[in-house]
Amino acid sequence: MKICRTKQDIRDTVQRFQAAGESVALVPTMGYLHEGHMTLVRSAKANAVRVIVSIFVNPTQFGEAADLAAYPRDEARDFKMLETEGVDAVFCPAVEEMYHPLKQTTVLTEDLDKVLMGALRPGHFKGVCTVVTKLFNITGADKAFFGEKDYQQLQVIKTMVRDLDMPIEIIGVPTVRDVDGLAMSSRNVRLTPEDRQAALILNKALAFADYEVSDGRTGPDLEQEIRDFIAREPRAKLESVDVRDAETLAEVPSTITRPVVILLAARFGDVLLIDQRVANPA
Ligand code: PAF
Repeated sequence: MKICRTKQDIRDTVQRFQAAGESVALVPTMGYLHEGHMTLVRSAKANAVRVIVSIFVNPTQFGEAADLAAYPRDEARDFKMLETEGVDAVFCPAVEEMYHPLKQTTVLTEDLDKVLMGALRPGHFKGVCTVVTKLFNITGADKAFFGEKDYQQLQVIKTMVRDLDMPIEIIGVPTVRDVDGLAMSSRNVRLTPEDRQAALILNKALAFADYEVSDGRTGPDLEQEIRDFIAREPRAKLESVDVRDAETLAEVPSTITRPVVILLAARFGDVLLIDQRVANPA
């Protein structure tokens, strides 16, 4: 596995692959890899001849300097995991290599940037769009893989690529679940056995909501019904329930006629879990 620390090095590497007629898939990450990332890498391997992974803790998508400083890093462990999966090259630049000291340009999806997570973390998606654009431009990869678990991020990136005619295919990879339905997350290990059991309410609530949408329920009522459903589990401290248009993330009208996404966030003990599902009206 080739380790590239400069833009020139990863660009040359990708160009060599493409000159030999090999398609190249990019998996962008911020490192400290877990099973979810490995799922993205495996999907990428199944869909392209070569797979490259970027590891870059992007400062422009963090609100607080303290969050950025506290972000976990373990490059040696990440490299070992990627090598085991048969990744061809890793791009892990320093901040100074990525960003020009006089940088002026950013990329922003106007409306998607302001809703849901964007409203809670102003500037976050602008930072994501800008760094992802740079990664696409630097690598020249043919395809890029992102988890559906970060649903808003995936929609923001798909919209950006569509609007700016970026010559890259974006592939969303479905959330991986344990056999009992709990969405895999590196946070699950911090759940007590009782909270882990209680957390199954999230996937059950999504299945309930899916059924309701296919049955023609209204948007605002549905959010309340999902809240009531989750309230049956006393260990769940619900943070948010959002039923939104699956593409634009706009609020949905009282009659659901287009696919919607149901986004849940709840705490079990001090562990915040998120889950999501797209539901289609009949
Ligand atoms: O999802 C992430 O890890 C990051 O937001 C991404 C896409 C690598 C951009 O820094």
